[in-house]
Amino acid sequence: MLINVENLNIDIATANGTLAAVQDVSFCVSKGETLCIVGESGCGKSITALSLLGLLPKVATRTARAMTFDGVDMQMMSKAELRALRGNRLSMIFQEPMTALNPLHTIGRQLLDVYRAHRKASRKEAKERAIYLLEQVGITNAVQRLNNYPHELSGGMRQRVVIAMALMCEPELIVADEPTTALDVSIQAELLRLLIDLQKSFGMGMIMITHDLGLVSRIADRVIVMYAGQVVETAPAEKLFTNPSHPYTRALLGSVPDPSHPRMKPLPSIPGTVPSLLNRMEGCHFLDRCPLASDACRKPIQLQQIGGNHEARCIKVGEGKIRLKVVA
Ligand SMILES: Nc1ncnc2c1ncn2[C@@H]1O[C@H](COP(=O)(O)OP(=O)(O)OP(=O)(O)O)[C@@H](O)[C@H]1O
Ligand code: SF4
Ligand SMILES: [Mg+2]
Repeated sequence: MLINVENLNIDIATANGTLAAVQDVSFCVSKGETLCIVGESGCGKSITALSLLGLLPKVATRTARAMTFDGVDMQMMSKAELRALRGNRLSMIFQEPMTALNPLHTIGRQLLDVYRAHRKASRKEAKERAIYLLEQVGITNAVQRLNNYPHELSGGMRQRVVIAMALMCEPELIVADEPTTALDVSIQAELLRLLIDLQKSFGMGMIMITHDLGLVSRIADRVIVMYAGQVVETAPAEKLFTNPSHPYTRALLGSVPDPSHPRMKPLPSIPGTVPSLLNRMEGCHFLDRCPLASDACRKPIQLQQIGGNHEARCIKVGEGKIRLKVVA
């Protein structure tokens, strides 16, 4: 097991009170495996990802029953130990490339710095590795490109550099948070394909956060569906698409489970609004939008085993077909 997270909770202090942004989230990823996390905006996907890298904002507090990387307790790691892990065995690709790039330094310097921070390598070896990876991510004239500053590259090129930088130290796990949504639609598919191909050829584990259910159906081994800070359903990808069991998941998939025609992006929107997480809710978070809601849903709802590593947080799982109106 590469990464194992059990009962992760993240609270965020705001001017209006404490936001229970992530509640009891658990998952694991093995070598070479792809976990996709989907869910409506604000449901806690990015905060979950940032917590894995020790990059939470100062206003956030994290607790977890367990959080291990390759068997080592991440909660006990010092800042230096986390830094040694980040960009090395565990890398992250953010949505916006400039989050990862320093505008004041050439991309060559940044690629070499990442490598030499984690490896005992000469400048020449680091440069060879940088050129190799720039070529792998489809950048032509890689040798000359090393001298470019980020602003001299297009958005798509910058994100290619970010992918190369994330792979410099051959990470075992890569966390990609909507890695192409800031880019032109025409290059999104190409960059995603590239990233997935590199993941396969390097044998990395991957956590992919995305709104694109079509992508999820193609690449995921396992899927987590989040809603208002909680996991509402988790299953091997095939089971999720053939037997979506939580009303929210069914709504996302348009209530027509068909693995060969999953809805393409963007994530369909469902009438109603997500509840505020400022006060911990007692009952089901989906209650106000769920056509099956009843008084019984006002008590705390646990994830229920459906079988075969498939769990859903709903007391009415299995109660016939649920059809929800979805606004595409
Ligand atoms: N630095 C912060 N300060 C205050 N609240 C924050 C901060 N970062 C995130 N939040 C809040 O935490 C919750 C979860 O945010 P998060 O960014 O994880 O959502 P998300 O699922 O990634 O959404 P999106 O799909 O829009 O990226 C949201 O309510 C958000 O407003
Ligand atoms: S627990 Fe109740 S309100 Fe929540 S999803 Fe299930 S049926 Fe709907
Ligand atoms: Mg996000």
